[in-house]
Amino acid sequence: MALLIGTTLVVLLLSVLFFWLAVRAARARPLAVRILGTFVSGVLGLALAAFTVLAIVGAVKLNTSPYQYTTQTASIPVTGGPDQLARGKQLAQGCTGCHSSTGNLPLDGGKDDFLAGGPPLGSLYAPDLTPSGPIKDWTDAEVIRAIREGVDKDDRPLVIMPSGGFHGLSDADVQAVVAYLRSQPPSNREVPAPSFTALAGAFFGAGMFPTSAQPPINGPVTAPPRAATADYGRYLTTATGCKDCHGENLTGGQAGGPAPAGPNLFALVPSWSEQQFITFFRSGTAPNGSQIDPNNMPWKDYSKIFEDQDLQGLYLYLKSKPAAGG
Ligand code: HEC
Ligand code: HEC
Repeated sequence: MALLIGTTLVVLLLSVLFFWLAVRAARARPLAVRILGTFVSGVLGLALAAFTVLAIVGAVKLNTSPYQYTTQTASIPVTGGPDQLARGKQLAQGCTGCHSSTGNLPLDGGKDDFLAGGPPLGSLYAPDLTPSGPIKDWTDAEVIRAIREGVDKDDRPLVIMPSGGFHGLSDADVQAVVAYLRSQPPSNREVPAPSFTALAGAFFGAGMFPTSAQPPINGPVTAPPRAATADYGRYLTTATGCKDCHGENLTGGQAGGPAPAGPNLFALVPSWSEQQFITFFRSGTAPNGSQIDPNNMPWKDYSKIFEDQDLQGLYLYLKSKPAAGG
């Protein structure tokens, strides 16, 4: 926040400076200086003023949640029994791509800055989710809210964290994830806290980039029994991130967004056999023989999350609606 306020103030001061120069130029003797100086400084001053407004709008968006959240999941017990921990560990494999320095469990915090390598936007690392990270001071309900609803302990909308893809996680499954997070050994890694520049603020202010905030979950969320059924497959598509990249209806993701755009699954999968679908998740080899890059479609992580019955359920669900959107 300090960086965001500081850089926004700098831009605001520059804008005032150019307006002042414009006024000075308007009083200058030589006609050319008067016309050109006033015009150029005035335009620059206006542009910087508009930028300042966007950055302020963005700063507000980045620090206030668009919804009224409760922490009603506080009543869900996170017991950490052996079954709960095993399930949580399985689901936590889906977090390793971002929240781990090694690409494997434990979730000791990411090592890459998501905002590096482009324009100066600030820096954002996926936090340490072991008991040495920030969530040591959060209640279970607050961690659950961050995962499914995309806001932190203080209702600040998260960024990059793909809560939209986890929004459908059942109470039992998300509890299991939290139980597992609490059971990890403390990593004691220093992961920098997020910081944004005025430019990032302006991007958010202009609506060019969404935050992770999701509509509040105000009632119990249950999943169908875990089995090789289309019903359970549908559940997995709402709870394990498919929608982030394949779109809200799984009919194709949007290019140019924060996540890679995946193809229309209802148009593609029905022409595959169940065995081809399972082979794809286990080896990354599509039926046409092409090898899919796990950095685009994280099949390696999914292979650790899904047992064969889960993949059979997913297949049955995706095959059940061949007409949708395709
Ligand atoms: C695409 C990358 C990505 C994936 C996958 C991901 N996260 Fe995150 N997550 C982030 C980033 C980045 C943040 C920090 C966002 C911020 O502070 O604005 C974050 C923040 C969080 C927070 C808030 C913690 C804090 O200290 O602020 C929790 C809890 C969390 N993630 C849990 C999970 C869990 C559990 C999974 C897997 C089920 C997961 N995340 C998967 C990127 C990811
Ligand atoms: C991080 C983004 C991301 C997530 C999450 C994701 N996918 Fe994908 N998926 C992709 C991309 C990108 C492709 C296209 C890859 C290519 O062709 O190189 C793809 C391709 C596929 C394919 C077809 C492979 C082919 O032949 O092109 C299937 C099937 C698939 N995804 C299923 C799923 C399912 C089911 C889920 C959820 C369990 C899921 N994906 C989650 C990004 C993602």
